[in-house]
Amino acid sequence: MAHRPSNRQRSRWAVSLLEVRPGDEVLEIGFGPGLAIAELARAGAGHVYGIDHSGVMLRHAAKRNAAAIRARRVTLAEASVDRLPFDGPFTAVLAVNSLGFWPEPAQRLTELRRRLAPGGRLAVVSQPRCPGATAATTRDAARKIEDLLRGAGFTELRTETFPLDPPVACVLAS
Ligand SMILES: C[S@@+](CC[C@H](N)C(=O)[O-])C[C@H]1O[C@@H](n2cnc3c(N)ncnc32)[C@H](O)[C@@H]1O
Repeated sequence: MAHRPSNRQRSRWAVSLLEVRPGDEVLEIGFGPGLAIAELARAGAGHVYGIDHSGVMLRHAAKRNAAAIRARRVTLAEASVDRLPFDGPFTAVLAVNSLGFWPEPAQRLTELRRRLAPGGRLAVVSQPRCPGATAATTRDAARKIEDLLRGAGFTELRTETFPLDPPVACVLAS
């Protein structure tokens, strides 16, 4: 996952949309090899928390972000999104190609909304990786995410697209 140039571009773009500020307490769900965690730390977040339910991914991400972990700017844990080990409040939450794997995503998003600080923002990114995925597949994925977010009580939604093949959608909510 970490070696695909498109995954690096996707992570960098997603983090740029979150407009990370010093003092931000950011949570990433499903960090995989930890590319976006590294970008979030580089962007100057006050603290970056991350969870992934895979021990293998935790090891990869911890290695990639070892210096920031030592500096106590990043904390990673092996955990599932339905058993969050960090309470928040978070000023920003990010999920890149992971929501599709969550158990009961509608309920998870409602819980995450409650853990956001006032004015906090959430970014859910999707680049469909199924065979034959096209721009239409990305649009459908974005629409499903928008519906889930509205159902979870998020009001201000904005969807951005990044021109990879297939395109990447990022739905931002606050
Ligand atoms: C397709 S990978 C994406 C990884 C990374 N975000 C990226 O863009 O490269 C999905 C990740 O979500 C994680 N994941 C799946 N279900 C999860 C769950 N219930 N809780 C936390 N992480 C989960 C997987 O272990 C995997 O690392």
